Amino acid sequence: MKKLAVMTMKGGTGKTTTAINVAHGLSLCGNKVLLIDCDPQRNVAITFGVYGRRGLAQLLTTGNVEILQVRDNLYIIDSGGRKLIEVELQLGGSEQREHRLRESLRYLQGCDFVFCDCPPSVNLINVNALAYCDLIIIPIAMDYLSQVGARQTVEVIDDIKERTGNDSMNFRILPTFYDARTRISKEVLGRIRERFSGRIFNTVIRVNTALSEAPHYNKTIYEHAPLSRGAFDYYRLTEEILDCC
Ligand SMILES: Nc1ncnc2c1ncn2[C@@H]1O[C@H](COP(=O)(O)OP(=O)(O)OP(=O)(O)O)[C@@H](O)[C@H]1O
Ligand SMILES: [Mg+2]
Repeated sequence: MKKLAVMTMKGGTGKTTTAINVAHGLSLCGNKVLLIDCDPQRNVAITFGVYGRRGLAQLLTTGNVEILQVRDNLYIIDSGGRKLIEVELQLGGSEQREHRLRESLRYLQGCDFVFCDCPPSVNLINVNALAYCDLIIIPIAMDYLSQVGARQTVEVIDDIKERTGNDSMNFRILPTFYDARTRISKEVLGRIRERFSGRIFNTVIRVNTALSEAPHYNKTIYEHAPLSRGAFDYYRLTEEILDCC
């Protein structure tokens, strides 16, 4: 079972879009995938148009959870919304607080991939995802602040790796919101390819309106616009992830 998280400190860089479309891409290839919404915004559950009465918040506190099937081979755990914020505060004072997710999913079986869609912060839920996952996908949109967010995320990863002893954890940078018409996109892509050489996906996710439309119809990109650039880019990324995992 491969465990992946999509995480960066910077908001709006395409984390949820990546988590949803790669998770669905992997499931379309015949893999059984569990997508965990770690964000109180509940964007994963909202995109699929479902609501889990017992989500991640309940899983971390009671061990009880409702796993929702949203497509063939694709399952999700809703976050619990605002309850997850309360749970995070509650967990703050408890023992083994960084390993709650790992503990809660200890008996999970039958999945090929577990995916965590993380909020843009350094909160305890994200630390739990870092302690649990093997590969952290860090999306960088083509601007300066996204690069700063990625640098901060890499620092946190190194720190958590040391503290939790999760030696198997690795990260890969994913360029997102690439727009070939702009100079800044080319400059940023060049710079991050140099800086993160060997730790960056070959796939570049281009700006594509269809990607922002799909959630409105409760669809993934493969359902909403299978021939779009967005679908092509996420197919490619899915293949790359299958190759490296
Ligand atoms: N490649 C893209 N081209 C155009 N729009 C995109 C692209 N990727 C994502 N979007 C849109 O941009 C917005 C932000 O994307 P998304 O929600 O995936 O980011 P996020 O990093 O999860 O945000 P947050 O930090 O708030 O969780 C959404 O409206 C999404 O539909
Ligand atoms: Mg998100």
